[in-house]
Amino acid sequence: MNRMVQTDLRDFLAEVEAGGELKTVTGAHWDKEMGAVCEVLYREKVDKSPLLLFDDIPGYPKGFRCVYGMLGSPFRLALGLGMEGGREDNRLDMLNAYRAKMREHAPIPPRIVNSGPIMDNVDRDDEVDVEKFPVPIHHELDGGRYIGTACGVVIRDPDTGRVNVGTYRVMVIDGKRCASYISNGKQGRIYRDKYFAKGEPCPVAIIVGIDPATYMAARYTLSDKVAEYDWAGGLCGRPLDLVEGELTGLPFPAHSEIVLEGFISPDKKVLEGPFGEWTGYYAGDAQEEPLIDIKRVYYRDDPILTCAASQKPPHSHLFERCFIRSAALIDSLEGAGVPDIKGVWVHQAGSGRTFVVVSIKQRYFGHASQAGIVASQVNPIGYCGRYIVVVDDDIDPTDIHDVIWAMGTRSDPQKDFNLLTECWSSRLDTMVFDKKLTNSRVVINACIPYEHIDDFPKVAQTSPELAREVRAKFPDVFA
Ligand SMILES: Cc1cc2nc3c(=O)[nH]c(=O)nc-3n(C[C@H](O)[C@H](O)[C@H](O)COP(=O)(O)O)c2cc1C
Repeated sequence: MNRMVQTDLRDFLAEVEAGGELKTVTGAHWDKEMGAVCEVLYREKVDKSPLLLFDDIPGYPKGFRCVYGMLGSPFRLALGLGMEGGREDNRLDMLNAYRAKMREHAPIPPRIVNSGPIMDNVDRDDEVDVEKFPVPIHHELDGGRYIGTACGVVIRDPDTGRVNVGTYRVMVIDGKRCASYISNGKQGRIYRDKYFAKGEPCPVAIIVGIDPATYMAARYTLSDKVAEYDWAGGLCGRPLDLVEGELTGLPFPAHSEIVLEGFISPDKKVLEGPFGEWTGYYAGDAQEEPLIDIKRVYYRDDPILTCAASQKPPHSHLFERCFIRSAALIDSLEGAGVPDIKGVWVHQAGSGRTFVVVSIKQRYFGHASQAGIVASQVNPIGYCGRYIVVVDDDIDPTDIHDVIWAMGTRSDPQKDFNLLTECWSSRLDTMVFDKKLTNSRVVINACIPYEHIDDFPKVAQTSPELAREVRAKFPDVFA
């Protein structure tokens, strides 16, 4: 069943509140406190924490708010994806429902409109001050205040005109200047560098108060053939309404909360970082990144800054990350022609990248290796992956007990560990120590050896029939 995907963050928050998953916190400071509240809570209640809406932030007007954990529970993710449900515990059912929905997905191009709530307030040139918003220091050792975390960085390909929206972290340098870290290979980086190659500044719009549909698209790795706004329109079943920035002409959603517009310098650089990252470390340290001069700030009355501070897992935006990546990985495997994929789970403990389980119905010799090796290289695990475990279809890939049991009983390290070297990584990788940004992967074949598929020892587990019988006979025990 489908439900409407909200393109206005405020409508989304109203739905979350009605569903009992919104918690307003008043009085928390932007300097480390909001980030700490969020981290401690999410660590205690994995997947079950409410969305946190911070208001009355010291030093800022009431109404200038920050939100964390927008999509950080199955229910909120289901809302953001326009799906019913999300309260059940069965992740694979939800994954399959999402995949079924996405099979119907067709991109819908956006509509350019003349105005919208984002035009409530426009600060120009000398008026620009990005510190007028309660920009958090998310983690204790961050190098500065990060205004862009759950954000969308809009950059146009100067060759093709395709508009890309990507989520890349953005640090405040001062009221008028920022810097962003975009990893090598990301579309926004490739486009940006095309301007730089010609010695030109790169026009940019940065949506730092973003609606859930655009945010979902921004964090998706889409091919050059599909633009993020079209993809988000397809998710919503209607075109997004976009306005164009007055300086760059770059489009952004008319219902955004806060948008910064400016230019990324081809020659001026500034120290950016460190920042608590998805790896769970302040990895990559501080390095020089191009300076962004902010020339316009567009914002709604009582604006909401959207936040997503990565850190040691689990954290406030990891559930949705793992879910979306799991779905994307099944698509990639099927797209590559690997048959009989029964399930995939990208585990939170692996920060959404480094520990991935693929379950297959083995059909032929080499099938398990094929599934694992392909999984290790394709979107979304091709970048910064580490361990890929392939299991049989009786193993639930979301259940870490099942997975480790399979590894311990169906794999022999000497022959079932397949090492791949020179793979795509980045400077955020804690085990990359030099300029060569590559790492290695291990594919663990934890499937029953195919030659023993018919004579492998039987699993010592109560049969479903007997389990049903004893449940019915001893209801008090199972209450
Ligand atoms: C909360 C969050 C923060 C992210 N921060 C960064 C970042 O700082 N730099 C980066 O290159 N990718 C970052 N990513 C990953 C990219 O958004 C993701 O790879 C996306 O697909 C990139 O878009 P692109 O394929 O259009 O380049 C982040 C993702 C999320 C969800």
